[in-house]
Amino acid sequence: MSFSQTHLPYVDKPVLRMGLAGNYGITSDDVRWAADHGVRYWVSGFSYGKTTDGLKAILARDRDAHVVTVLGMGAFGWQVRRSVESALRTLRTDYLDVYKLGWLGVTSRLSDGILDTLHKLKDEGKLRAIGTSIHDRSRAGRLAEDSPIDLFMIRYNAKHPGAEQDIFPHLKKRDPAVVVYTALAWTQLIKPVAGIDLPPWPIANAEPMPPPLTADLCYRFVLSSPHVHVVLSGPSNRAELAENLRSLDKGPLTAEEMDWVRQYGQALRKARRLDYVA
Ligand SMILES: NC(=O)c1ccc[n+]([C@@H]2O[C@H](COP(=O)([O-])OP(=O)(O)OC[C@H]3O[C@@H](n4cnc5c(N)ncnc54)[C@H](OP(=O)(O)O)[C@@H]3O)[C@@H](O)[C@H]2O)c1
Repeated sequence: MSFSQTHLPYVDKPVLRMGLAGNYGITSDDVRWAADHGVRYWVSGFSYGKTTDGLKAILARDRDAHVVTVLGMGAFGWQVRRSVESALRTLRTDYLDVYKLGWLGVTSRLSDGILDTLHKLKDEGKLRAIGTSIHDRSRAGRLAEDSPIDLFMIRYNAKHPGAEQDIFPHLKKRDPAVVVYTALAWTQLIKPVAGIDLPPWPIANAEPMPPPLTADLCYRFVLSSPHVHVVLSGPSNRAELAENLRSLDKGPLTAEEMDWVRQYGQALRKARRLDYVA
């Protein structure tokens, strides 16, 4: 793995370490542009309609170069099958790389019925890997050690780094893929906040000078972890998309930057409420 590229276990494909979520405002043109700039990991699902044509076009060009992941919900195996087969029809593809069970909890149990269906879909060649988007970190840690789940989509950022204790130590046994989202902590990390008292940013003449963090520092913070394969980015427009992709050229944070970013995240976390500066 380099800072910008990795090989996704189980899915067994090389990818850029930034994946793209198309549901925050970008268009199909932006998706095609992102593919031309190396993006290979895509999130699709209900509410991603605006970018579906773009995704279909890049898959038609070279299906095997891309990792298509679908976020879905389902309490029963038949619902999961329906959701996978509907995504295959919508995207005009023969297989999904990953089907992510949304928030393994009440609405999406890891029942034998669901697992049977997922295994059958794999046998039929319609699915490469089983994933989950999961908020319950201790459960994710247990599932990472012992379950058929090949890919974990988890929340991880400088304000909420709990995956370092609850999930990362449990990856060694099976080496599932780790995809993180909320790198910007719902943009809390990149908005100016009053009353946060910290030593000055360690790099002289930085432009812009934190605080707050830039999107680039947030993405590089999570990508500096050797446990993270891919970070998801949800840009609202082409300018944000281009800016976020440039993070990959800048390499990991230095130990000093890492330490400061971590302190900033902790300070935000300790604040009872965030007083955003206009
Ligand atoms: N966040 C969640 O709790 C959550 C939960 C479940 C699933 N997901 C899914 O996970 C995927 C990734 O979402 P995410 O929340 O992790 O994405 P993210 O990249 O951490 O955050 C997306 C938001 O960050 C802002 N942003 C992105 N790049 C920026 C930049 N360069 N400068 C300024 N602002 C920037 C945009 O806000 P502005 O609109 O203000 O520009 C955008 O709405 C999405 O498909 C999402 O639906 C997210």
